[in-house]
Amino acid sequence: MDLTSVKQRFGIIGNDSNLNCALEIALRVASTDLSVLVTGESGVGKEFFPQIIHANSARKHGNYIAVNCGAIPEGTIDSELFGHEKGAFTGATEARKGYFEVADGGTIFLDEVAELPHTTQVRLLRVLQTGEFIRVGASKAGKTNVRVVAATNINLREAVAEGRFREDLYYRLNTVPITIPPLRERKGDIYLLFRKFASDIAAQYRMPQISLDEEARQMLENYRWPGNIRQLKNVAEQISAVEETRLITGEIIKKYLPDYDKSRMPVVTKTSASTEEMHTERELLYKVLFDLRSDMSELKRMMNELLASKRYEEPQEIVGLLPHGNSYPITQTGKANETDDDFYTDTEEVIDDPKEGMTKEKAQKEAIIRALKRHNGKRKDAARELFISERTLYRKIKELGIDKIL
Ligand SMILES: Nc1ncnc2c1ncn2[C@@H]1O[C@H](COP(=O)(O)OP(=O)(O)OP(=O)(O)O)[C@@H](O)[C@H]1O
Ligand SMILES: [Mg+2]
Repeated sequence: MDLTSVKQRFGIIGNDSNLNCALEIALRVASTDLSVLVTGESGVGKEFFPQIIHANSARKHGNYIAVNCGAIPEGTIDSELFGHEKGAFTGATEARKGYFEVADGGTIFLDEVAELPHTTQVRLLRVLQTGEFIRVGASKAGKTNVRVVAATNINLREAVAEGRFREDLYYRLNTVPITIPPLRERKGDIYLLFRKFASDIAAQYRMPQISLDEEARQMLENYRWPGNIRQLKNVAEQISAVEETRLITGEIIKKYLPDYDKSRMPVVTKTSASTEEMHTERELLYKVLFDLRSDMSELKRMMNELLASKRYEEPQEIVGLLPHGNSYPITQTGKANETDDDFYTDTEEVIDDPKEGMTKEKAQKEAIIRALKRHNGKRKDAARELFISERTLYRKIKELGIDKIL
């Protein structure tokens, strides 16, 4: 298949050279059995890639199984992936094949691979190295022949450095790396994508298609799109459905672009206790912060004080953090590579401040409840909006007693 027919078949819009390059790599390696790791921010279109690879490989008539590693509870993930024997644990009344066994001769897509628990990482490494797996509760290994494509929107290298992801597994998965550029780096594709989404929605609801005036178009192209194409699609759909007029001006579109005026990204300090837990907490807290429209100058003052007091304690690595957790390294002096550090904040400190009248738990709880309500209780969508994994959301719902209220 050539590039144009792949785009047509999978409904991929865009002509950006980095996107084309990513697609070409996928096509080139499809016929091999090499593991592929697809990385890129949330919403950039990573999920097309394992499908393209499978469809262009000799395995295309075999099974294709997509597994969201972040959505399976830790207690059952080994059994889901590798199967279990009868009686292996309470409730295992029958033996069951795992995905690696079912996908023998085919392809497995491990989405959100960074979410795999440590024990599962060990099992996965074994199957990648030797093709052997052991069902939970079994004593003998089985054999399988599976091609693995994995994806993540977090920085796996960082996860390795912090001990959250096995280094050997990282290299094994990352045999062929494919990086998808964020939407803000493919400005030329933004309008194309918008028009496509607007036209799809118009056809779907049999209404006239919206169009943008020059100012609105420029605003679309200059926006940072933290949620990338997923966000652009939502915006196109919302405007089409909500606005009465079909000619969309800059003034109208601004309502749909959160924090449009904030071209500068906030910067946080990263403490030495930085674990996966803190990452997700921080991401959630950022969402809370943005939702609450906190008083930025107050944050700046507080964080400057905090930084001043911390600077002498230990060397700090300082990173700029997007609301959804992607970070840009910046220098020790606090100057961002990409952004000017307009304000400093450590969200946990700030939100825990009783002066704010809002404890961290309370703020998180409210953000989660709001997100769940907005998505009619759909946890998957709420987790996406909060930029946390479904598993973290499940845990938070329990921990914060949200299940008892809703
Ligand atoms: N180039 C594109 N053309 C058309 N639609 C696209 C394109 N890229 C992404 N999309 C659409 O954007 C949405 C998000 O894409 P996808 O689900 O693949 O994101 P992702 O990279 O897996 O994000 P996450 O890390 O949050 O899971 C989907 O509806 C997808 O169809
Ligand atoms: Mg995805």
